[in-house]
Amino acid sequence: MSSTGTAKDATRTKEGAAKAAARRRAPADAPAPAPSALGKVERPDGPHGSLVVLALLRRKQSPNQIFEAIARAHRPIAHFRMAGDHVYIVSDPQLVTDVFLTHARDVMKGRGLQAARPLLGNGLLTSEGEFHLRQRRLAQPAFHKQRIATYAEQMVTEAVRHEGGWTDGGHVDMVEEMTSLTFAIVGRTLFGTDLTGDARTFGDTLEELMNGFGQLSAIGNERIVRALPKGRHLLSRVEDLDAVVQRIIDEHRADVANGIDRHDLLSWMIQARDDEAAATYGTSMSDEQLRDEVMTFVLAGHETTAMALSWAWWLLASNPDIAGRLHDELARVLDDGVGGLRAPSYEDISSLPYTYAVMAETIRMYPPAWIMGRRLLTDLRVGDWDLPSGSIVLGSPWILHRDERFWGDATTFRPERWVDADGAFDESAPGVPRGAWIPFGFGNRRCIGEQFAWTEAVLVLATLAAKWQPELVPGTVVQTQAAVTLRPRNGLPMTLRRHTDAPHV
Ligand code: HEM
Repeated sequence: MSSTGTAKDATRTKEGAAKAAARRRAPADAPAPAPSALGKVERPDGPHGSLVVLALLRRKQSPNQIFEAIARAHRPIAHFRMAGDHVYIVSDPQLVTDVFLTHARDVMKGRGLQAARPLLGNGLLTSEGEFHLRQRRLAQPAFHKQRIATYAEQMVTEAVRHEGGWTDGGHVDMVEEMTSLTFAIVGRTLFGTDLTGDARTFGDTLEELMNGFGQLSAIGNERIVRALPKGRHLLSRVEDLDAVVQRIIDEHRADVANGIDRHDLLSWMIQARDDEAAATYGTSMSDEQLRDEVMTFVLAGHETTAMALSWAWWLLASNPDIAGRLHDELARVLDDGVGGLRAPSYEDISSLPYTYAVMAETIRMYPPAWIMGRRLLTDLRVGDWDLPSGSIVLGSPWILHRDERFWGDATTFRPERWVDADGAFDESAPGVPRGAWIPFGFGNRRCIGEQFAWTEAVLVLATLAAKWQPELVPGTVVQTQAAVTLRPRNGLPMTLRRHTDAPHV
């Protein structure tokens, strides 16, 4: 929707921005840090906060590189001030596990996700405490193993449909390709909806919002964000996405009203809102809550996997030997016996250890959720330090997955490290300590879509890499851009090349 134009549009934009701003406020029952009983404490070394904020705002280096440099210089805990907060980057696997898992009840989500509240509201990623657990239980059936197996077919169907638009020698931006594909998949599987027409609007707006809110979270203060023209602009952009989400909800409502149950995530949530399921879950789900959950699943359900697949294409293009080995596996497993290749299925996944390993190694080196933050609800002893209640603790898959103390050749793309002596994919094969491999987070805040993501990434890569070996356009410099997810800074311009042994059907 245009934010200029008629007076009606202007009013709607104002209302939308106001709603988004209201969403930013944490709910009344949200936990709050207890007052610290520590008094004056000694703090670990670290850079001056203003230098960190300046570096983040100047964007010469990406935040993942800035934080990595700070963590390496001040292991195992670095400290700096940012927008009134004491921030600690913890870079030891055991200490990260202590804070994020052992003390999960003593922490709440950190400032990055709080900054994205105008977009995500109080959905599963951002909600807290009992309310979060209730919403998580409600969503869980959509992620049971049997459901994932049924989604697998839809994932492959969407990948094949997408590939139908590719031509040999054609130029694409692989980030856009993977984003529109995973967006279509999440629409089809979780919401039974065709979102292909909305991919572009959603993708562009989302990128702007993620970058914008990411930057503004360095400022932190809600009033300042709202006072800045950029902050107000971002709030009004949320409205464009709201329109798509509202359409998905309206379509489902109409079906539920007509007695049609689509047996998908949203239908369950609507029923939990509307009927006796409300009794099971305590209170019914408000309209606004429904909107927050749909927005959260649309966002969390496609952006991360799209980035994992995008990075995989780049790493494969940069490592032709590995791409060749991947293709050998796919050509062997998907051989249809009559000189062609068939589409992969859920049952094939266990026969595709190398494909799995390529995705694991990609996620190790380029973890889409590159950082996790928590605010302490109470004073906490972390290693040799007392951290006062209210402090922010950051744990970063980007930093831990690239730590040479645990990962040999940490900056080398080596899928073989994930394959055990029997040739099977094994997540424990690298033999790293607990907390050094954390792409999907911890405990009751661990990614609910983890199995969905593995299944989708492996099947999409298998479907496409069986026939295609895209090449990076020469001269392209690929750099990371870390906002809420880790993205290639200027996209990934690639030339599509069809494998000579891939049939043209
Ligand atoms: C490669 C793909 C993915 C990665 C790397 C990833 C990573 C993560 C991480 C690290 C968290 C925890 C964040 C924290 O503790 O602050 C998380 C949470 C979450 N993820 Fe994913 N994710 C992926 C795919 C997905 C998919 C496909 C879905 C849904 C279909 C999804 C839905 C969610 C949701 C709803 C949460 C919040 C869970 C809760 O707090 O209860 N994610 N994800």
